[in-house]
Amino acid sequence: PAIGPLTGRHVLVTSGPTHEPIDPVRYIANRSSGAQGTAIAAALRDLGARVSFVTGPAEIPPPAGVEVIRVQTAREMREAVEAALPADAAVMAAAVADWRVANAQDHKIKKDGIGSAPVLEFSENPDILAWIGRLREGRPRLVVGFAAETDDVLAHASAKLQRKRADWIVANDVSPATGIMGGTENAVTLITADGAEAWPRMPKDEVARKLAARIAEALGQPPQE
Ligand code: C5P
Repeated sequence: PAIGPLTGRHVLVTSGPTHEPIDPVRYIANRSSGAQGTAIAAALRDLGARVSFVTGPAEIPPPAGVEVIRVQTAREMREAVEAALPADAAVMAAAVADWRVANAQDHKIKKDGIGSAPVLEFSENPDILAWIGRLREGRPRLVVGFAAETDDVLAHASAKLQRKRADWIVANDVSPATGIMGGTENAVTLITADGAEAWPRMPKDEVARKLAARIAEALGQPPQE
């Protein structure tokens, strides 16, 4: 493993979408390639961190040299996150489905031949970031969330920082015109208690490296052997 400013630190990263089953062959999900979360895990690893990478079914493979925990649903993701604690920092980059299908079926839903369609009912999924941000015991020292917004990016992201008790929010504008969704570049604003810092548009790998360096700085000197 790499030796660096995060040697001796354990960092948890969530990434990718979650899949919420409708029946054994169908699901609902958010759009997410997993690219930014994967790049962040790799960057943290490169700075020496031990990384637990909790990932939903992403399009791209997880990085080498991290502990990969694969999950499907939001509830499984929350449980995997809890099982991976304690951690010095947590970066919640997953695009978790806000709702799951409450009336999911154990058998494939069949067409009834007379043109009627099933009705899906939803119930709310756990908010993993809000859960970890509010932990009374064993909360990671640094909790970082993401906010993918299409409008009023700063206002919505700042509200998220408060509501979810995150230390930082990495906000990005994912309105279709930006081409960020599914692309290789990202333009983010880092929101902390001290204010907002807009980073220039850069490759997702570079956003990841910059964020990992900031995390190392925030955690300070690694524990001595
Ligand atoms: O509320 P919204 O989904 O926009 O918040 C995004 C942030 O919250 C991301 O960091 C995402 O990983 C996290 N989140 C979560 N669990 C959810 C929903 C969002 O951890 N159920």
